[in-house]
Amino acid sequence: MSVIQSVAGLSPDVYESCNDSADSEVMWQRFSVPYEYTVCFTDGLFNTANELFANTLSRHEPDKRHRLIVFIDQGVADASPATCAAIKNYCSEYSEQLDLTTPPILTVGGESIKADWKLIEQMQQTLVDHHIDRHSYIVAIGGGALLDAVGLVAATAHRGIRHVRVPTTVLAQNDSGVGVKNGINLFSQKNYLGTFSPPFAVLNDYGFIRTLPPRDKIAGIAEAVKVALIRDTDFFQYLQRNAHALATFEQNAMQYMIMRSAQLHMRQIATGGDPFETGSARPLDFGHWAAHKLETLTAFELRHGEAVAIGLALDARYSVLAGLLSQGCEIEICNLLEQLGFKLWHQALGERDASGAYQVLAGLNEFREHLGGELTITLLQAVGVGVEVHSMDESLVAESIQWLRVRQQ
Ligand SMILES: NC(=O)c1ccc[n+]([C@@H]2O[C@H](COP(=O)([O-])OP(=O)(O)OC[C@H]3O[C@@H](n4cnc5c(N)ncnc54)[C@H](O)[C@@H]3O)[C@@H](O)[C@H]2O)c1
Ligand SMILES: [Zn+2]
Repeated sequence: MSVIQSVAGLSPDVYESCNDSADSEVMWQRFSVPYEYTVCFTDGLFNTANELFANTLSRHEPDKRHRLIVFIDQGVADASPATCAAIKNYCSEYSEQLDLTTPPILTVGGESIKADWKLIEQMQQTLVDHHIDRHSYIVAIGGGALLDAVGLVAATAHRGIRHVRVPTTVLAQNDSGVGVKNGINLFSQKNYLGTFSPPFAVLNDYGFIRTLPPRDKIAGIAEAVKVALIRDTDFFQYLQRNAHALATFEQNAMQYMIMRSAQLHMRQIATGGDPFETGSARPLDFGHWAAHKLETLTAFELRHGEAVAIGLALDARYSVLAGLLSQGCEIEICNLLEQLGFKLWHQALGERDASGAYQVLAGLNEFREHLGGELTITLLQAVGVGVEVHSMDESLVAESIQWLRVRQQ
């Protein structure tokens, strides 16, 4: 066997791992690509006095006029009808830097956009029509669902076009928008089709949160509770102390909750050692094995965040029953979620299949299959400290479901 070194300086261990006995030539290729993107918080992104948007797009080539196309969530446009005009006006004001190729394109938001492949194709067609190339920008303004769908479009057209996210929901600002994933639902599976693809920039505008319906404002807070539970006891205590302020959407508390949650999500992605999830663990998906299943069982009648809150409560109780978490912690967690406005029961959680098994249990295997490899579920060993397990006792899950059912009565 001969080995051809294609990159200078590869360590000898690379070669030692080769199979000497094979009559083959083996070449090794290795390179790494650093990722970097800004995550900004502002208020009034498209106020002409605010230079952030123009400066962000001009970051690498300040002297160039940058072509951009904007897909905007219909829900955002309905809630703040002046937004599209403000974007057009902003781009005219900054016309030396920005070339808006066409007026902002209204796009259906929520899970509907992730449910229909044709909408992805339509967006791709729009890019073709407007000659959007890899040096242009695709700007997505909307909730987590729209960002996921437009992110997929941006990642795949021309094999990847610069993508700027403008998240407009609590959940999209404090969790999904700052991450590296996109995707749509296919074959009755959540996020079946998608890519890992970091954005060019994330521009969070608190102004959008003001127009969000209360139900969505509350739903997103579940992701902040989640990340506090696995990574940051102090933040959990902050959420407890400010539960009333958050439940009534007091501005300072909301803004801190969003920013701190986004920061903890970013830290996990950057320092957790597996940003593109090649391993089996996914700590940021604490509470999500049940949540994803509840979303599909309810045909998305439950919002993602609402399902996550139930999933957190379920796995907190399970952690206690499994002897991992001190008794009483799960009550503290449930109390906080309820103070924030979550209901910790949905009839879908109690539904059974023909064999009498809880239907939500099928979520365990679906979760494993989506991640690949060994089943890895994050549970709690303390408030602020996650722990990974590789199996779940179905009778303890059933007990946890029963506990939640009794609790809500
Ligand atoms: N990619 C990731 O890493 C990741 C992480 C977590 C969640 N997600 C995905 O995010 C999605 C949930 O996102 P979401 O909670 O933001 O909800 P969403 O995107 O479904 O939006 C909820 C509703 O709010 C509307 N809306 C959005 N912004 C608004 C605003 N400012 N004012 C008024 N209405 C507005 C939308 O039109 C929609 O009807 C799920 O599909 C979930 O799978 C992705
Ligand atoms: Zn989530």
